[in-house]
Amino acid sequence: MVPAPDPSTLRQQLSLGQPLFWLNPAYEPAAPPAELHDILAAESRLQRCAPLLARLFPELATDQGLIESPLLAVPALQQALSLPGTLLLKADHDLPIAGSVKARGGFHEVLCHAESLALAAGILHSIDDDYLKLAGPDARALFAQHLLGVASTGNLGLSIGVIGAALGFDTCVHMSSDAKEWKKQRLRNFGVRVIEHASDYSAAVAAGRADTEANPMGYFVDDENSPRLFYGYAVAALRLQTQLQQAGVTVDADHPLMVYIPCGVGGAPGGICFGLKQVFGSAVHCFFAEPAQAPCVLLGVQDPGIPSVYDAGLTCSTEADGLAVGLASEWVCTRIRSLLSGVYTVSDASLYRDLYRLQDTEQVAIEPSAAAGIQGPARLLQREGSDYLRAQGLESRLEQATQIIWTTGGRLVPHEEYKKFLEKGKIASNETLTD
Ligand SMILES: Cc1ncc(COP(=O)(O)O)c(C=O)c1O
Repeated sequence: MVPAPDPSTLRQQLSLGQPLFWLNPAYEPAAPPAELHDILAAESRLQRCAPLLARLFPELATDQGLIESPLLAVPALQQALSLPGTLLLKADHDLPIAGSVKARGGFHEVLCHAESLALAAGILHSIDDDYLKLAGPDARALFAQHLLGVASTGNLGLSIGVIGAALGFDTCVHMSSDAKEWKKQRLRNFGVRVIEHASDYSAAVAAGRADTEANPMGYFVDDENSPRLFYGYAVAALRLQTQLQQAGVTVDADHPLMVYIPCGVGGAPGGICFGLKQVFGSAVHCFFAEPAQAPCVLLGVQDPGIPSVYDAGLTCSTEADGLAVGLASEWVCTRIRSLLSGVYTVSDASLYRDLYRLQDTEQVAIEPSAAAGIQGPARLLQREGSDYLRAQGLESRLEQATQIIWTTGGRLVPHEEYKKFLEKGKIASNETLTD
């Protein structure tokens, strides 16, 4: 493995708030022992709830209630970035209903909760029962007595809020100060209660947790500490495996797969990374992308004490609202510590530049947080990235490699907001950036 900078040098580098590429010294290239059980259970739950989702959201009827996104070829982007091998885009920015990577995990957790309440109340007799009963009057009356709480920088709130309200839960979303106004308004339009906090994400989670747990009928979806979210997110790996097979893409030691995922508290990218390592073992290499001012998962994976970005002298302030998290999920960091290849950090200006580049080359519209993966493949060819390629024996395999940029949100962005993003992106495209 590549020698890692000692922790104090790393802290010093991080505190400058400049983009950097960190290779994880705890990464274990050998395939991890298979732990597919929980992911398969989540996939089965989403499958048995699919008819229910198609009933609740007519938009899902053509996909029989499955929440999934396409895997796209992006030849014009690949050419613009001068990349070898095959470049693909996992288009979670286009996930139906919730419009972000937080959809699979969020829907999975709320469906888990609804299922267990309905089983306990005798509305469902077993998991083989007719799940359309969960959209019926008895289930709605039951769920209306229960509070569903969550804290969010925006997109998890959209996911939980929409499914919670559709099932009839008393749904309350605690939004951190970074959350965008249009996301709050969209939730209010669905009848969700939105509580605005002037604080950052971690403080909003603490307030939301306390508020929800004070209610005896309350259930808090805890993004800092939730196996139900995590394994729901991980289902993406099974779906991607099928999509790659359908596209005729081989993944093995000679045909490596590199994946670049924007990261906030760590749940969604952590679940995906965990799932991908179960499915593809040592043939897949996962990199997370975090804002230069908010690399909380880098800090949390590197140091089991889970320091915050404030401890590292950073501000947590970023225009990437979905990634504006000061403290990583310890639960997630523990699970991915030996699975994650590395983390690179990005400037806000580069997010706008890359958002613009994706529109310009492929006519794909995303939100700023979702652009963090785009520069991953190019960063892997430079400096510390190329050290990784050398250390893993990947240099000679780049032509037969597949690289996947995970675009994680954007479908629901109002047109006027998106136009502003593009204007900023056009300006950033003419700036000289270090990343
Ligand atoms: C667009 C987008 N990308 C990535 C993420 C990162 O997910 P996580 O916070 O689970 O790390 C988020 C989180 O809200 C998001 O909204």
